[in-house]
Amino acid sequence: MNILITGGAGYIGSHVLKALLERAADKITVIDNFYSGSQDALVALESVGKFDFIKCDLADTAHLKEIFASHKFDAIIHFAAYIEVFESMQNPLKYYLNNTANTANLINLAVEFGVEKFIFSSTAATYGEPKDGVVCENSPQNPINPYGTSKLMSEQILKDAAAANSKFKYGILRYFNVAGASSDSLIGQNYPNATHLIKVATQTITGKRANMSIFGRDYDTKDGTCIRDYIHIEDLASAHLAVLDYLNSNDSDIFNVGYGHGFSVLEVINTAKKISGVDFEVIDAPRRLGDPAVLIADSSKLRNLTSWKPKKDNLKTIIASALAWEKKI
Ligand SMILES: NC(=O)c1ccc[n+]([C@@H]2O[C@H](COP(=O)([O-])OP(=O)(O)OC[C@H]3O[C@@H](n4cnc5c(N)ncnc54)[C@H](O)[C@@H]3O)[C@@H](O)[C@H]2O)c1
Repeated sequence: MNILITGGAGYIGSHVLKALLERAADKITVIDNFYSGSQDALVALESVGKFDFIKCDLADTAHLKEIFASHKFDAIIHFAAYIEVFESMQNPLKYYLNNTANTANLINLAVEFGVEKFIFSSTAATYGEPKDGVVCENSPQNPINPYGTSKLMSEQILKDAAAANSKFKYGILRYFNVAGASSDSLIGQNYPNATHLIKVATQTITGKRANMSIFGRDYDTKDGTCIRDYIHIEDLASAHLAVLDYLNSNDSDIFNVGYGHGFSVLEVINTAKKISGVDFEVIDAPRRLGDPAVLIADSSKLRNLTSWKPKKDNLKTIIASALAWEKKI
């Protein structure tokens, strides 16, 4: 397949690029504007396989058009977006422009140039604060911040585009809590200001942060802290390949990508302390707005309909890979 990856220099995009290079079956073009992506990740991945890189901003329609005209893509895997929830509340238009308007533009070009498959990075944030902590793909979607809404609107645009163009199919993947790094520590999560729990814990272990916070200990859970479904980045990456293959002989569909069980914030912190042998400082902080007590993926659809077979469903494995990476950078 001739595949375009947007945002391929970012955390998730670079791991999916690695998985595609390892299967060595496709011609791949990556575009990124390096807003948050890492040039180092792309350089590292040159040792895994061959791909083309074009520096391009998704807002640059003329440049994108040139790229589409000269490549004849069969599929697009679209990661490029802004991802900070708090920032999206302060500056919503930044999110609607990059995450929704630029995505609409990309879908428009995909349809215009006859691209048949479009894999989209969506998020559990589109569910908002579900009453039941375990959500399936048709659970109500009521995002509570512009980031989640910007992704939900893109989902709708994809659905409408596919309904009106019989040759255009989408695979929407709603990620839960993505964590960890590649098992060989070749690539991992790069941005220093990340808010992801496991990333922050490994930064604290390695002394890049003095301490870390627990936001709320009074939730209605077994130990009072929030419970989330943490998925290893390599299992998340392989889900993209499985859905890409699924679309060869099936219609458009939506999949939750998580393991279907969760760990509390305290369990993650205690496991990180145990693995590292570092008893780092943890501070109690008030609840954050919009954090549901429990958010777990019902991922039975992905497991039952596609060839996806997760291999790293183990909290210690996830944290150990994140820590090995954090020590390297
Ligand atoms: N990280 C998570 O836990 C998580 C969870 C749910 C969904 N997602 C989604 O997954 C996708 C990838 O997230 P990530 O964690 O890898 O983030 P990331 O910031 O590491 O990657 C995003 C990439 O897109 C690039 N980019 C952004 N805007 C661009 C533009 N206008 N033109 C070209 N390139 C642009 C960035 O430079 C970066 O390389 C995003 O769409 C995000 O919403 C992430």
